[in-house]
Amino acid sequence: MDNPGMDAPATQPAEASSDVLVSLTDVNKYFGALHVLQDINLDVKRGEVLVVIGPSGSGKSTLCRAINRLEPINSGSITLDGQKLPEEGKPLARLRADVGMVFQSFNLFAHKSILENVTLGPLKVRRLKPAEAKKQAMELLERVGVANQANKLPAQLSGGQQQRVAIARALAMQPKVMLFDEPTSALDPEMVNEVLDVMVSLASEGMTMVVVTHEMGFARKAADRVVFMADGRIVEQAPPDQFFDNPQSERAKDFLSKILTH
Ligand SMILES: Nc1ncnc2c1ncn2[C@@H]1O[C@H](COP(=O)(O)OP(=O)(O)OP(=O)(O)O)[C@@H](O)[C@H]1O
Ligand SMILES: [Mg+2]
Repeated sequence: MDNPGMDAPATQPAEASSDVLVSLTDVNKYFGALHVLQDINLDVKRGEVLVVIGPSGSGKSTLCRAINRLEPINSGSITLDGQKLPEEGKPLARLRADVGMVFQSFNLFAHKSILENVTLGPLKVRRLKPAEAKKQAMELLERVGVANQANKLPAQLSGGQQQRVAIARALAMQPKVMLFDEPTSALDPEMVNEVLDVMVSLASEGMTMVVVTHEMGFARKAADRVVFMADGRIVEQAPPDQFFDNPQSERAKDFLSKILTH
């Protein structure tokens, strides 16, 4: 306190790092002999929307799954909001609650109503009171445009509606970051936009998002940064316009020429 000037440098790193919500450092992951994540270094800033693209098998899903520890990593470290990912027990359950995940297949509980699907996590993990959980769930279902389906079972909804429920269910846990792994690739084409619209509005509200998708329109509209992966590595990363209009690596050029001609 005698010399406030001396304190300033010491506090700087902590303040600087608070901008970063998810941080991967030298992350390596193997499936047997297959080296699926190779020295991945990636920081996701608070409020940033990151789109991850790359060929099949390049490690995009594994990267997402590593961030909420559905897949343990072999070396390196991953932190969420400055905390190393917990390995097990209650801290791991809390981490999972902080990291919302939406998969290609909607993964709703088939025998529970839409409303129950959305209230279950908050009741069990966040320990909300039933009335509170219901109120919050109805607000979220309203926001994604399916409040009128609340009492139905998942199978009674279209794929696009189910995926919007899956987004509402993840949001109900009040996550710090949302991970989306090809959320629209199992949908009939006419339902893709209703899901992307929800994601665009989430992005514009400041949600931190990691989105694996080949939807270039979404990437251009909503992404702050595109990360291109191939063979378990981050080959290239850039703002979307720069990446799509002027890719640098041969791998990215080749990949874009393939997906853009279809
Ligand atoms: N549980 C597993 N056991 C063994 N190998 C796996 C497992 N999960 C993924 N792999 C392999 O790891 C590599 C990366 O898989 P990953 O699913 O992360 O790729 P991806 O980029 O998401 O591909 P896609 O675009 O097809 O979804 C692939 O070669 C895949 O076959
Ligand atoms: Mg995948």
